[in-house]
Amino acid sequence: MFTVNVELGDRSYPIFVAEGLLNSADVVAPYLGQGRVVIVSNDVVAPLYMETVKQLFAGREIMEIILPDGEAHKNLDAISHIYDSLLAGKYDRNTLLVALGGGVVGDITGFAAATYLRGINFVQIPTTLLAQVDSSVGGKTGVNHPLGKNMIGAFYQPSCVVADTSVLKTLPQREVKAGLAEVIKYGLIYDASFFNWLADNSDGIVLSDPALLSQVIRTCCEIKAEIVAKDEKESGIRALLNLGHTFGHAIETASGYGTWLHGETVSMGMVMAADLSRRIGWMDRDTAGRIRSVLEENFGMPVLPPADISVEQYIDLMLSDKKAELGKIRFVLLKAIGEAAIEGDVDKMLLKETLTAGENLCR
Ligand SMILES: NC(=O)c1ccc[n+]([C@@H]2O[C@H](COP(=O)([O-])OP(=O)(O)OC[C@H]3O[C@@H](n4cnc5c(N)ncnc54)[C@H](O)[C@@H]3O)[C@@H](O)[C@H]2O)c1
Ligand SMILES: [Zn+2]
Repeated sequence: MFTVNVELGDRSYPIFVAEGLLNSADVVAPYLGQGRVVIVSNDVVAPLYMETVKQLFAGREIMEIILPDGEAHKNLDAISHIYDSLLAGKYDRNTLLVALGGGVVGDITGFAAATYLRGINFVQIPTTLLAQVDSSVGGKTGVNHPLGKNMIGAFYQPSCVVADTSVLKTLPQREVKAGLAEVIKYGLIYDASFFNWLADNSDGIVLSDPALLSQVIRTCCEIKAEIVAKDEKESGIRALLNLGHTFGHAIETASGYGTWLHGETVSMGMVMAADLSRRIGWMDRDTAGRIRSVLEENFGMPVLPPADISVEQYIDLMLSDKKAELGKIRFVLLKAIGEAAIEGDVDKMLLKETLTAGENLCR
C-alpha cells in the first residue's frame, strides 16, 4: 500500500491506494467518523461493490442512495434527490457521505456534502481509473448545467480517499482508456519523463497490468496533490490541469453529455491544444505530432473532434469556460512536453485554423 498526503493545513487528508483496500477496514477507520453513514453510488457500481464497502462501516446505520448511471445524470436533479433523502431521514451534521463510483458519483456526492447543512464530512471511494488518478483528489465538486459543463459546484475537500485498485478489473476497456487521457495530461503539463515512460510502457498499461497501473496512480496522485497543495482554489498553477478541457468541455456540451466520455474529449482537446501551441509558435511540428501519435497510436484514443461542431459553436461554448475572463478565452497550451502555460490572447485566425483542422491536427 502507499499513501499520498494532500497538504492543506487543517484540511489535509490522505489518499490510500492498495489492491484489496476495501477489505482493510482498520487502515481507513480513523477517517470515517462515528455518525450515520450514507453511501451514494449508481446502478452499475452498487451491485458490484456496495456490500464490500458496507463492511467498512460495520455496526453503523447505513443508508444507500442509488443514482442512475452516467454523465447525463450529473445534474441538479441528482443533488435534489440526495437532499430529499437526507432531510426525510433527519440526517444531522455528524453524517458521513460516501461517494462510491467514478467521477460522476464523486462530483455529485462532494457537492451534496459541501452544501447539505452548510457542509458535512465525505469520503471518496473512486472506482474508475479516471477517478483514482484525478477527480477524487483535490476537492472540485459539482454538476453540469445544460448550458455548460461543471458550471455549478464548490471546492470542498474529502476527509480521505480510498482507492482500491482491484475494482479496476471490472472497468470496461473504453473507460480505462478515458482515464489514461487524464494520466497523459499530467505528463504533458508537468513531467516529460513520466510522459516518455507512459509511451514506452503503453502496451502493458492499456492491458491494465496491475504493477504498471499502480505506478501510474501513484505518480498522478503525487503530482495532483502537489499542485492542489500549492493552489487549492485555482488562482494559478492548478489551472494547468485543465489542459485540453477548454476544447473538451465544449465538445462534451455540444455533443450532449454522455455521447463522448469525458476522458475521450480531453484526448481530443489535448491534441487541439498541441495543434494551437504549434500554430502560435510555442512548439515545433514534430513535438505536436508526437503528442498526437502517443494518444492515437500508443493508447488507441480518439484524437479528432466530431466534425459537426461549428467554429461559432466552439467559441460560444468556450467563452463560458470558467477560465474565460472579460470576453477572452484563456487556453492552457504547451511550450514543450512537460511544460504548460496559460495564453489569454490567441490570434482568432490561428484558433479558427485549429478548430477546422480535422485530420490535419498536429500534422
Ligand atoms: N472533480 C474533478 O477534479 C474532476 C476531474 C476530472 C474529471 N471529473 C469529472 O469526472 C467525470 C468522469 O468520471 P469517470 O470517467 O469516472 O466517469 P463515470 O463516473 O461516469 O464512470 C464511468 C463508467 O464506469 C462505470 N464504473 C465505475 N466504476 C466501475 C467499476 N469499477 N467497474 C465497472 N464499471 C464501473 C460507471 O458506472 C460509468 O458507467 C466527469 O463528469 C468529469 O467532469 C472531475
Ligand atoms: Zn478532466
